[in-house]
Amino acid sequence: MADLVIRQGTVSDIQAIMALEQGSIEHPWESKAIETLITDNNKVCLVAELDGIIVSYVGAESVLDESNVGNIVTHREYRGRGIATKLFKVLLAELMEKGIRKLFLEVEHDNVPAIALYEKLGFTGYGYRRDYYGKGKDAVLMSLELC
Ligand SMILES: CC(C)(COP(=O)(O)OP(=O)(O)OC[C@H]1O[C@@H](n2cnc3c(N)ncnc32)[C@H](O)[C@@H]1OP(=O)(O)O)[C@@H](O)C(=O)NCCC(=O)NCCS
Repeated sequence: MADLVIRQGTVSDIQAIMALEQGSIEHPWESKAIETLITDNNKVCLVAELDGIIVSYVGAESVLDESNVGNIVTHREYRGRGIATKLFKVLLAELMEKGIRKLFLEVEHDNVPAIALYEKLGFTGYGYRRDYYGKGKDAVLMSLELC
């Protein structure tokens, strides 16, 4: 794949990140939440750029030595090319460098691509939250030990 660049998100990426969210997520994040993800010291926002276009992003928030992945999205046209995998691996390396030892996330129980991505990266399920995303939309809780 030509020139996939993975870098820190900046405030000038907010519109592009919002567009990714709006094209893929039922309840997209608002610009203020994305801005905080980019500017807060306890948070990290990475973007993947292909030929100058932001095609994927991931965000995580840390407390002490644990981190929670808030979202990961790849633009529909660019899915299935390993972009989220590469982005996530950079995220894991960065979090490990910062001393994070355990990563958590929630994912809708029937989100097959996302669950497959997380399992491929080594996440395992440890519980469920009933109706977390709305009536009948349960969340699977997953975690990954980083060291
Ligand atoms: C989940 C998502 C981020 C994956 O992005 P992607 O860039 O296509 O992911 P990759 O190409 O790196 O694929 C990684 C793995 O995910 C799994 N996967 C990806 N697409 C899949 C599909 N359609 N069906 C089943 N598994 C799939 C595979 O295990 C794949 O690994 P493989 O190619 O070695 O088989 C993308 O589908 C997306 O943006 N979905 C909408 C937003 C979302 O649901 N985010 C998660 C919120 S918790």
